[in-house]
Amino acid sequence: MAGTGTAHLRPAEDVLLRVEDLLVEFKLKRGAKVNAVTGISFDVKPGETLGLVGESGCGKSTTGKAIMQLPPPTGGRVIFEGRELTGLSGKEMRQTRTKVQMIFQDPISSLNPRRKIEDIVAEGLDIWKTGDKGARSRKVDEMLLTVGMDPDVARGRRPFQFSGGQCQRISIARAVVTEPEMIICDEPVSALDVSVQAQILNLLEDMKARYGLTMIFIAHDLAVVKNISDRVVVMYLGKICEVTAPDQLYAHPSHPYTQALLGAIPVPDPDVRPEDRPVVGGEIPSPVSPPSGCRFRTRCPRAQDTCAEVEPQIREIAPDHFVACHFPLAPGEKLIVSTNGSSSTGERQPIPSEAVGSDRPESGSPAEGLAGAGSTQGQSQDREVTVPTASRDDASGDAEVGSAELPSPEPVRPGETSRSGDIGPRHASSEGPAQGVGEGPPPLETSGSGTDAPTTEAAGPTGPVSLPKRPTAEPSEHDVPDYDAEHRSEGDDKS
Ligand SMILES: Nc1ncnc2c1ncn2[C@@H]1O[C@H](COP(=O)(O)OP(=O)(O)OP(=O)(O)O)[C@@H](O)[C@H]1O
Ligand code: SF4
Ligand SMILES: [Mg+2]
Repeated sequence: MAGTGTAHLRPAEDVLLRVEDLLVEFKLKRGAKVNAVTGISFDVKPGETLGLVGESGCGKSTTGKAIMQLPPPTGGRVIFEGRELTGLSGKEMRQTRTKVQMIFQDPISSLNPRRKIEDIVAEGLDIWKTGDKGARSRKVDEMLLTVGMDPDVARGRRPFQFSGGQCQRISIARAVVTEPEMIICDEPVSALDVSVQAQILNLLEDMKARYGLTMIFIAHDLAVVKNISDRVVVMYLGKICEVTAPDQLYAHPSHPYTQALLGAIPVPDPDVRPEDRPVVGGEIPSPVSPPSGCRFRTRCPRAQDTCAEVEPQIREIAPDHFVACHFPLAPGEKLIVSTNGSSSTGERQPIPSEAVGSDRPESGSPAEGLAGAGSTQGQSQDREVTVPTASRDDASGDAEVGSAELPSPEPVRPGETSRSGDIGPRHASSEGPAQGVGEGPPPLETSGSGTDAPTTEAAGPTGPVSLPKRPTAEPSEHDVPDYDAEHRSEGDDKS
């Protein structure tokens, strides 16, 4: 099945979090099960931001929750600071959650509607009785100011009195208040409009720098992830396809799925017609009965018999660039898409293992030969697909948006999230298989300057509140809310 292996893992002593062979299955009736996440491995170094991307339903949220043990995974290991989390008792895990926090996917429903904002933000401090009541209260004020909210206005109100963007700021304050080592951000901007997305992304960058956070940033939008990640993991149907640095991923996407995902990013150029961009049609297979061999094979234009029989293992095809594919794209090679939507499927041979660990195949190398054999270049009806590139340095803060002041309550403006089975531009050719396909928000440019990235200076001066950094006293059972139960219902209602 697409993407198993640990070749991309770094030495255990260098990483803060290491996930090995993570397996999450959800039992259904009559013995069936959802294979939500199947044997994935990845790690995160201290201070690093790991982007986790893939289309809807590929298992991103399940992976994030499994790290938090919400619920514990079916199999595999989650090692944080050298400690295996899957074997911890409930109390030990609750204590660990002060060091690993999660910002959940839906900013509004992830906040308890019956509680006041001051109680929501203070929850982590109250549970562990961190400092005295006055210190906790000052810490809540500090956090609200840091995320650009006026404590005097926000404290006594409830989540439904805020917009989606404001609720996301509150979620960030709640996550950071316990001074965690790591934050898992589960699509923190996907439900927000583009201008508010830029604000929240800038805020997260500020918080990361200010508190020295390590981050896992989950998104289905590669444009967003590129700007803030040090390393990107691309997932498809519960498996890993590709792992590398974002610049490399954009410049040389090697897994056919990655290139299709990149091609789905809208290009803000009227001369680039939607039908000129890569399209991978077909429905996402059911995770209840995923395809044999490579899970992407039912939609992959390059699939061969081998792909159905042998699961590709993750291997290094260039320095720090890992791919799980029998026939990865050579550097510069594009998915060739015909005007009628069909793709080239010429005979290909796997890249020999000698190429593994060396630099990218040069001209005339086996990989390039395969591309030539498989492509239909030169045929007039085919088009090469241009993958948009951008760099972190491009970020210019164009998304000038409001101030850090708490605005009056505004309606929530949910963004569009494609759940289509096709990957590609929304208005692709009617002849091709991309009808009705989804599109993500346009690429974002983020920068610390020029946006409303809130600072304590902007919102008012407050000295840092001094609190014991880590929990000092074990709370009584009575004090500890059933955090697991609070989030269990969230996952249980999916099917
Ligand atoms: N509690 C559950 N019971 C049964 N199936 C589940 C449960 N939670 C998740 N799933 C299934 O597991 C798969 C992965 O779900 P997950 O929420 O992790 O996807 P995702 O990548 O986060 O998608 P999205 O981008 O839409 O948030 C999906 O097929 C989903 O339906
Ligand atoms: S070429 Fe084969 S192994 Fe590679 S993504 Fe396509 S189906 Fe999977
Ligand atoms: Mg999700």
